[in-house]
Amino acid sequence: MASLPGAGRRLLCSLFLCLTLSGAARAATRHHEWEISYQFKSPDCVGKLAVTVNGQTPGPTIRATQGDTVVVRVNNSLPTENVAIHWHGIRQIGTPWADGTEGVTQCPILPGDTFTYTFVIDRPGTYMYHAHYGMQRSAGFNGMIVVAAAAGGKDAEPFAYDGEHDVLLNDWWHNSTYEQAAGLASVPIRWVGEPHSLLINGRGRFNCSAAVAGTCNATLPECAAPVFAVVPGKTYRFRIASLTSLSALNFEIEGHQMTVVEADGHYVKPFVVTNLNIYSGETYSVLIKADQDPNRNYWLASNVVSRKPGTATGTAILSYLGSQHPPPTTPPAGPAWNDTMYRFRQSVATVAHPAHVEPPPPRADRTILLLNTQNTINGRIKWALNNVSFTLPHTPYLVALKNGILGAFDQRPPPETYAHQSYNIYDPPPNPNATTSDGLYRLRFGSVVDVVLQNANMLDANRSETHPWHLHGHDFWVLGYGIGRFDPAVHPATYNLKDPILKNTVAVHPYGWTALRFKADNPGVWAFHCHIEAHFFMGMGIVFEEGIERVAELPREIMGCGKTKGGR
Ligand code: C2O
Ligand code: CU
Repeated sequence: MASLPGAGRRLLCSLFLCLTLSGAARAATRHHEWEISYQFKSPDCVGKLAVTVNGQTPGPTIRATQGDTVVVRVNNSLPTENVAIHWHGIRQIGTPWADGTEGVTQCPILPGDTFTYTFVIDRPGTYMYHAHYGMQRSAGFNGMIVVAAAAGGKDAEPFAYDGEHDVLLNDWWHNSTYEQAAGLASVPIRWVGEPHSLLINGRGRFNCSAAVAGTCNATLPECAAPVFAVVPGKTYRFRIASLTSLSALNFEIEGHQMTVVEADGHYVKPFVVTNLNIYSGETYSVLIKADQDPNRNYWLASNVVSRKPGTATGTAILSYLGSQHPPPTTPPAGPAWNDTMYRFRQSVATVAHPAHVEPPPPRADRTILLLNTQNTINGRIKWALNNVSFTLPHTPYLVALKNGILGAFDQRPPPETYAHQSYNIYDPPPNPNATTSDGLYRLRFGSVVDVVLQNANMLDANRSETHPWHLHGHDFWVLGYGIGRFDPAVHPATYNLKDPILKNTVAVHPYGWTALRFKADNPGVWAFHCHIEAHFFMGMGIVFEEGIERVAELPREIMGCGKTKGGR
């Protein structure tokens, strides 16, 4: 709490909260002190080491009001492991060094070191945080960020509710992330496989009779089903966030219709569903009315979709009774896992709320077509965009670009397109060989960029899967979705330029394409990648640079790894 921010303002501080008062506007600074450590946990009744925040997995929910500054002082108490923390959905306007993306915006935080993230939360909505180093996110390092709208401001919610619940969905494996990462890089590949459990707010339930003797204890309170209390007749906002490592999920509250009202921090033109498809990296808010028989409880259920499920339904309890009584029914099993069109329709139905439309620029200055394929490099299975599989450089791009360290990464720009007229997306790649690169796309500051993600067949015949793509530093307008081959001469005419939703994560459906648009107006270096942990690890990502010359002087704390001097 250094200097006072100027005449006519006062700074009021309690232990963790300072209020800057200036006239009517109040913005708070919210201080958090986090210790990151390994702890023995049993989220699904099976014991495992997990990366925790202050001893918890998921970590504490960060609550703030739009306009607040969040300060998180991170102490890395992992004895032998680096960390970096990404604030997923927060655009980091003016603070690109606080994005927490190891290799892109910072060096990792070393064991024993402390690093302070300071950033402004400029918008209300539902966001998340998670580790962004190796596959560390899967080790339990994740949590939610819930931001209230400034009272009476233009971003106030266009809907009303009596109470609120937060639901963080995840998938969980009993083997370590090191084992997973080593397996993915092995020849032949050892695929991570379907998750052992699905977690809701960090709790799940593995069938102990299938566990290694002595590792599972179904009576631990740590793996008791989470309970969400409701009062009959009231309306609740459920904020639902997914940080799965692999699974696309379908979420349902037994017997209760859900009205979708928010997606990734933007208000949605309300639509009603009986269950909600949610991909890793996405958040939604839904409203439910507690209007069912109040003499029993109901299930909350998450089920795997898009991949053939091999995991039991994740469950929690909607409690009318104020008890933990399990409902008298079988938990909902979700829609058919392979019904792509069912999920496609939900994607298309998600458009901006009529009173909150931010129209996109009418045309793009540049269009990047990205063919998503599975490939092989030296016998290893990889994912590639336009036949280039991404690798992270050892020197963060932000540091390298700002300091002119040209030898830090491949200076050749990656390809902007592929043979879109002739490539047959329904067959395995005819030549699966790809190359690796840590080159990046440099965007003209202020330009409008379209990206079209084209999905295709994997290495195995008759397989194409869903990829949730996440962009750092921006929201993008979702202009259109299709199934089949994207044709740049035809499909742009079908784009929704009237009321497209702004999001930061979007699905590319099997054999489909998704078109999005954003303005390159946030100085910094920003990752754009598939949010499936294993896929990004296998190269499914790219990086954009824009306005690097406008980035203010970098904090020294993000430096100290890789190359530190200019030249090649
Ligand atoms: Cu939530 Cu780069 O990801
Ligand atoms: Cu993917």
